[in-house]
Amino acid sequence: MTAVEAFDAVDVIRAKRDGGAVAEPALRWMVDAYTRGYVADSQMAAFAMAVLLNGMTRDEIRVMTDAMIASGERMSFAGLGKPTVDKHSTGGVGDKITLPLAPLVASFGVAVPQLSGRGLGHTGGTLDKLESIPGWRAALSNDEMFAQLRDMGAVICAAGSGLAPADKKLYALRDVTGTVEAIPLIASSIMSKKIAEGTDALVLDVKFGSGAFMQDVDRARELARTMVALGTDSGVSTTALLTDMNTPLGLAIGNANEVRESVEVLAGGGPADVVELTVALAREMLALAGQPDADVEAALQDGRAMDAWRAMIIAQDGDPDAALPAPNETHTVTATEDGFVTGMEALPFGIAAWRLGAGRARAQDPVLHAAGIDLHVKPGDQVAAGQPLFTLLGEDDSRFDRALEALDGAWTIGPDAPERTPLVLERITA
Ligand code: URA
Repeated sequence: MTAVEAFDAVDVIRAKRDGGAVAEPALRWMVDAYTRGYVADSQMAAFAMAVLLNGMTRDEIRVMTDAMIASGERMSFAGLGKPTVDKHSTGGVGDKITLPLAPLVASFGVAVPQLSGRGLGHTGGTLDKLESIPGWRAALSNDEMFAQLRDMGAVICAAGSGLAPADKKLYALRDVTGTVEAIPLIASSIMSKKIAEGTDALVLDVKFGSGAFMQDVDRARELARTMVALGTDSGVSTTALLTDMNTPLGLAIGNANEVRESVEVLAGGGPADVVELTVALAREMLALAGQPDADVEAALQDGRAMDAWRAMIIAQDGDPDAALPAPNETHTVTATEDGFVTGMEALPFGIAAWRLGAGRARAQDPVLHAAGIDLHVKPGDQVAAGQPLFTLLGEDDSRFDRALEALDGAWTIGPDAPERTPLVLERITA
């Protein structure tokens, strides 16, 4: 005999369609019944569209998140004997911050369980970048992850399929039904995975601007506030930084070149914007872990962060001293006039790097680790005609034309230096 279902999906859809709030038991049932396959994709798609149009209350978002967490395993690092802090970025062009950040924070005795993903489209994936390192392994068992956190403090690895399976199914559905943009659904999607991971504290890097998932700053702020509230309501100390993604972060866009740039930061150098954001996020993470006065810059300068990086890479079978994949072909674009670089749009640079093979169009595609773009200048820099602006890196030259097409109009040079805009716009707390 089939069990009698407690609710009817059509009632739940109607309640949201008509602008009402869905009561907790009905919403929990909806998520659970969808995960079990009882609620059909068509019904969940209608519900997601109703959420996109009518929103959700703070309480509904909390219940939605909780129901997605309950659909899978919940990890715990309680036995580690040290605080755990994670970082999540909503993603951007040249965003390699996790690479220097995780070992930097771990060098202060804090555990950083960084469950990461692969890139799809113009934003890169942390695992793709690290897989440029010969031997490095993204897949760890829960026991290996726990041991590495205990012994080394930092781990960056692939999220197992056991965390929030309801989200996996719903995210794929949203992707094909025009409902990705619903803030309650984005917030519950991201936070269900982070809370299920079992971290004590979380710092969110919510990006706005042309290369960001949320281009509009007000929507990015709303997403940040929603996620901070969700984390806090679930007992995870959460803060967010609202950061500018109108310009690529750093000088490297790709995979191997982003690893190289991250190692420069860990060696006490690197581009100013990458250092600034790494330091800002590390301070937030360490403050949540009870070390508000940690001297983060000192750990970058004196080799402690680099030691933690090497230990983290070696623990996952990577060789931190091995040569990184290098491009076979390059193409350098130069300035056609004297002046100041007044703009470099993140999105076209991200698309160009993707077309060069640094990113993938379908989840099953491989990435070319040596492909990408090296910038030689950034907005605000003065240039002379003929000076190199950026170099395309490719396995062969067959993809250069398509990449250059994406870059048409993506940078501007003018007579006056542009106004400087802050990289970190706002800090959002509970
Ligand atoms: N990233 C996620 O994990 N979920 C979303 O809904 C959007 C971005």
